[in-house]
Amino acid sequence: MEKKQRESWGSRLGFIMAAAGSAVGLGNIWRFPYMAGTNGGSAFIIIYLAFALIIGISVMIGEFAIGRRTQLAAVGAYKAINKNWTFAGVLGVISAFFIMGFYPVVGGWASAYILKSFTGLLSNPAAIGDAFGAFITSAVEPSIWLIIFLAANIIIVAKGVSGGIEKAGKILMPTLFGLLILIAIRSVTLEGAGGGLEFLFKPDFSEVTGQTLLAALGQAFFSLSLGMGCMMTYGSYLNKSENLPSNALIVTLLDTGVALLAGIAIFPALFAFGVEPAVGAGLVFVVVPQIFAQMGTLGIIFSALFFIALTVAALTSSVSLLEVVVAYLMDQRGWERKKSVYAAGGVMAILSVLSSLSMGVMSGFTVLGVGIFDFFDILTDKIFLAIGGMLLAIFIGWFVKREDLEDELTNGGTIKFGLFNAWYALMKYVIPLAVLVVAVMGILSIEQTGLMIFGLAVIAVLALFSKKL
Ligand code: TRP
Repeated sequence: MEKKQRESWGSRLGFIMAAAGSAVGLGNIWRFPYMAGTNGGSAFIIIYLAFALIIGISVMIGEFAIGRRTQLAAVGAYKAINKNWTFAGVLGVISAFFIMGFYPVVGGWASAYILKSFTGLLSNPAAIGDAFGAFITSAVEPSIWLIIFLAANIIIVAKGVSGGIEKAGKILMPTLFGLLILIAIRSVTLEGAGGGLEFLFKPDFSEVTGQTLLAALGQAFFSLSLGMGCMMTYGSYLNKSENLPSNALIVTLLDTGVALLAGIAIFPALFAFGVEPAVGAGLVFVVVPQIFAQMGTLGIIFSALFFIALTVAALTSSVSLLEVVVAYLMDQRGWERKKSVYAAGGVMAILSVLSSLSMGVMSGFTVLGVGIFDFFDILTDKIFLAIGGMLLAIFIGWFVKREDLEDELTNGGTIKFGLFNAWYALMKYVIPLAVLVVAVMGILSIEQTGLMIFGLAVIAVLALFSKKL
């Protein structure tokens, strides 16, 4: 009796670590601050939080439920319930390839900065911004780092996800958390930090546009690993005694908590140093080393630790993305794990190197008006994930039996899910409509019209051929 209890508790922690490991990543620490910075700050953050805590959490509960119900990863899960919906799973696999077409580039930057912390990066604070620009636009160095980062993914996923990565996560995720708190304290106590806090917490809704809404929605999905079957795949490995809604709540709170902490760590320092909030994708790589540059040797160690933790956070996320593709190849195509990992990882390496080169030598080459890095980033973040989340909500609300959902979310009636009716109504009516409205407003105000049309066309074609997939 006692033994049984202990076991189920252990697996609960393991699952939360894996799901939180997937959610907490570059999206929180690299992407969130610069998205907030380029979208006006506080108002964006409040909208993002609302989306994460209402829409995000509901979709996560849905993904867990479908994954565990069917015991299958994304494509198989949809297919097992309704063949017309196979395409929604396939869209997820495509999204995984696209996200892994740029995510390893940034993961490589983070890894490189571990080493750079020791090799003089911090010795000249005024040059840190230029050094970052020079680094990412060069051809060879960032490509090597992204290959190293991807190789780590391949090794881990080839061995299966448990073991190493979970252990590393258990030590390094708390380290990351501790360091962020430390940086946040340092940051808010810098002279001139007040402007940053105002930027973070004093909303100005007059600047909010359709673009802002879409960016906030995309960020919520991206940060929570939603809208492409990732949490569905993780749910498929779950045992039947886990409480799905409370797990979703914990993962969501951890994830948004880390994002906010990253904001508090970055923005006060940024205002103190007089850096532009809208500086863009280099934000973390420019501001964090600058904070540590003033602390001597201790600063070097802290900086290295921060980038180690960031690399690991990125790794526990990218592993989950690779796993979505691998699980598909294994479940649906009958491939072996190793073959699946090498094939998928190889394609991702090619895509990522192209993305990396698009920062420099290939910057003149554009697809539908944007460089390759932005092509993958915008297409997934602004279109595929949000539409993927909407499709899941429609699927759950209209194509899955209500009793089955209630059965799954209450573990066959053995636990309570008091908000079931509210959740169901959200999935059935509110989320499809809300995402539709935000998507339309975003599409109408987006600069990359060609890209938007392309993304929607891809989804439409997939839907048309769903039964053949
Ligand atoms: N959520 C991760 C991050 O914030 C990235 C990620 C992992 C992801 N799996 C995903 C994003 C699935 C979208 C979908 O860094």
